[in-house]
Amino acid sequence: MEVPLEQTGAWLAGTIDLGDLTVNRLGFGAMRLCGDSAWGRPKDRDHAHRVLHRAVELGVNFIDTADSYGPEANESLIAQALYPYPPDLVIATKGGLVRPDRRSWVQDGRPEHLRGAVEGSLQRLRLERIDLYQLHAPDPNVPFAESVGALADLQRIGKIRHIGISNITVAQLDLARSIAPIVSVQNAYNLRNHTSEDVLAACERLGIAFLPWYPLGGKRGLRALKVKQAATRHGLTHAALSIAWLLARSPVMLPIPGTRSIDHLEENVHAASLRLAPEDFDDLR
Ligand SMILES: NC(=O)c1ccc[n+]([C@@H]2O[C@H](COP(=O)([O-])OP(=O)(O)OC[C@H]3O[C@@H](n4cnc5c(N)ncnc54)[C@H](OP(=O)(O)O)[C@@H]3O)[C@@H](O)[C@H]2O)c1
Repeated sequence: MEVPLEQTGAWLAGTIDLGDLTVNRLGFGAMRLCGDSAWGRPKDRDHAHRVLHRAVELGVNFIDTADSYGPEANESLIAQALYPYPPDLVIATKGGLVRPDRRSWVQDGRPEHLRGAVEGSLQRLRLERIDLYQLHAPDPNVPFAESVGALADLQRIGKIRHIGISNITVAQLDLARSIAPIVSVQNAYNLRNHTSEDVLAACERLGIAFLPWYPLGGKRGLRALKVKQAATRHGLTHAALSIAWLLARSPVMLPIPGTRSIDHLEENVHAASLRLAPEDFDDLR
């Protein structure tokens, strides 16, 4: 039975634990609230604030951001819109990528960079401790153990509550776990991109959250014929089907779809109420 739009909320997706924190299993990715290419401030700041407020009203209590979105502007926007934060809101940010210009994302996993990055995020987010700090991507020029070790040190001195890692392999997950407790992994994953299937399986075995980035598969994903046809068959939009599929795919899945549109946000949260049977996804394999 479908739940009416006015009764939907992210809580209908159930909950998931991030260490000692529990959040609804449908979050919000804030990256798209920057200017295009995740660069600069939003064109309409008040509208971006309304999107964030509406997300919280709809029960979203997990928001993903990064210091490289903007850069810096995305974290500042979240604080301007939502501070003082609702008590159950978990803001997850990331560090380890820098933006020399709008087209470039450059890894910097040096411990000294990460220490400065955490201080910057704490200030912009107006927090004393970051609930979930994720290494955005391994830096090929820095031993991965050194980057994770720096986050472990920051956790020990109370700047970070929990550590997550992003864009990693199973071997890197194992290495990170030998250095510090890891509560989440964030890799690309959607109906059309299953390249992190082995990482998802590892997260399931370990009982840690898997945050699929690019959860709707972007415009190519939305256009994909199979998804379109299946969505039509179920009377759903492509976005709703993509999110319902992710939620059904694994209990450790915590999707973080992003949008600048309140209508799209409502549609995405509505997907938390959809219950599709495994056979509904047969033709999407
Ligand atoms: N760890 C990493 O390396 C990494 C990389 C990329 C992203 N991320 C994180 O993952 C989050 C999500 O990723 P993403 O934004 O790349 O991908 P996404 O959530 O799959 O897609 C967002 C795109 O889909 C559109 N959209 C959203 N809802 C829609 C709907 N109901 N109907 C039609 N179009 C819809 C949005 O446009 P409109 O604004 O027009 O709705 C936007 O262009 C980001 O916000 C960020 O936090 C992490």
